[in-house]
Amino acid sequence: MGRALRVTDPSGLTVEFYHEMDTVNRLLQRYDLYKGAKVQRIDHFNCMVEDVEAAHNFYLRELGFRCSEYTATENENIWAAWLHRKPSVHDVAFMNGLGPRLHHVGYWLKDPMSLIDACDVLASIGYGPNIERGPGRHGLSNAFFLYLRDPDGHRIELYNGDYLTSDPDFKPIRWDLNDPRRATFWGHVAPDSWFEEASHFLTLQGDQTVSLTEPKLEKKKPTFII
Ligand SMILES: [Fe+2]
Repeated sequence: MGRALRVTDPSGLTVEFYHEMDTVNRLLQRYDLYKGAKVQRIDHFNCMVEDVEAAHNFYLRELGFRCSEYTATENENIWAAWLHRKPSVHDVAFMNGLGPRLHHVGYWLKDPMSLIDACDVLASIGYGPNIERGPGRHGLSNAFFLYLRDPDGHRIELYNGDYLTSDPDFKPIRWDLNDPRRATFWGHVAPDSWFEEASHFLTLQGDQTVSLTEPKLEKKKPTFII
């Protein structure tokens, strides 16, 4: 990667801009290399911030993102937002909560069966307890999901099945804060850890503000719901 500019956004998240990056050979048809979940690419980042509406406004107005879906309160305050540059549901999502923290990195898989294969592979090698939530389907984004915790405790989402947002007439989809189908379309509830635990970021200077190897368990349950 060439020269980069690292800044702090209004939520306190560290963001890096770069100008050029070396290209590499594509591996799409190197099926002989596929294993485990057969991950295809990084799809999105999901972050917890304390003022989602401010983050939403900054990324739309200053960085050219568009909103695909959002959760709103009765007063029409934005409670959670899914924002994109590529024509999918999101490149970054912001959820209301103690922050700024990284909630998860989402990896794209080629089909739902790859998520189920990943569960079988993980269970067979002793990583069953690392499966935190799912498989299931989100109402928001319509994606098929599986959440895992890596050996350092950071959260990974295996993700498939959202939709194109390339239509310039696409209007952001509003979900009511009180509608449980937005988090899990099928209605089952996520574990407390999914709401309470997230990873801390490095500061702009590269300092580690909180141990990244042991995600901090917040003593006070945050009041957010996605
Ligand atoms: Fe996600």
